[in-house]
Amino acid sequence: MAINIAIDGPAGAGKSSTAKLIAKKLGYIYVDTGALYRTVGLYSIRKGIDTKDAEKVIATLPEIKVELKFVDGAQHVFLNGEDVSEAIRTPEASMGASNVSAIPKVREFLFDLQRSIAAENNCIMDGRDIGTVVLPNADVKIFLTTSVEERANRRYKEMLEKGEKVDYNDILEDIKKRDYQDSHREVAPLKQADDAIFVDNGSYNLETGTEYLIGIIKEHLK
Ligand code: DC
Repeated sequence: MAINIAIDGPAGAGKSSTAKLIAKKLGYIYVDTGALYRTVGLYSIRKGIDTKDAEKVIATLPEIKVELKFVDGAQHVFLNGEDVSEAIRTPEASMGASNVSAIPKVREFLFDLQRSIAAENNCIMDGRDIGTVVLPNADVKIFLTTSVEERANRRYKEMLEKGEKVDYNDILEDIKKRDYQDSHREVAPLKQADDAIFVDNGSYNLETGTEYLIGIIKEHLK
């Protein structure tokens, strides 16, 4: 049986950078499920479809093939054969992902892919509903979060380092809006699973946070 670790939490909590490092250290694959919603959102954006228009977004699903491939442990996401791993990282794609993720048919569309990867691989999967819906029997579940200001600040620094021109307040507003949408939608909203371990990583940096989580994971896998 594959070992599955679920990490859920709001945008900017450091899930992906932490989970990526943990995966490397444990020799698991890291699965970023947000990338799947971003890919569905990107397809609509490219077609000029409003990502809040459920009917139109649903009509695109038969045209879309989403695939995940792992190169040296790093996830690449493909949209109809095109590697869109970079293209899905814009603020527009972030909001588009949050919008399409509230559509139940979109969630159904992406469900089997997530389940089959987890069944076949030791993995750390991050998202919003991994511990609650996608992998309710995960071996370890972690709910990772910290204050919205700290999350916005991290995102802000990350984007500055990438050389992007950004405004802190725009990022803060964006994250607040996504937090609200992601935790108030009807299907599979962001919430902590009853059996998840709550971690506020506000006082950790990437290294210390990673070590702390690996400690928790090893303890629970005993
Ligand atoms: O993790 P992320 O920021 O890349 O996710 C983008 C959006 O996708 C997020 O705002 C909500 C949605 N999402 C989701 O609904 N369920 C998941 N398991 C992962 C992401």
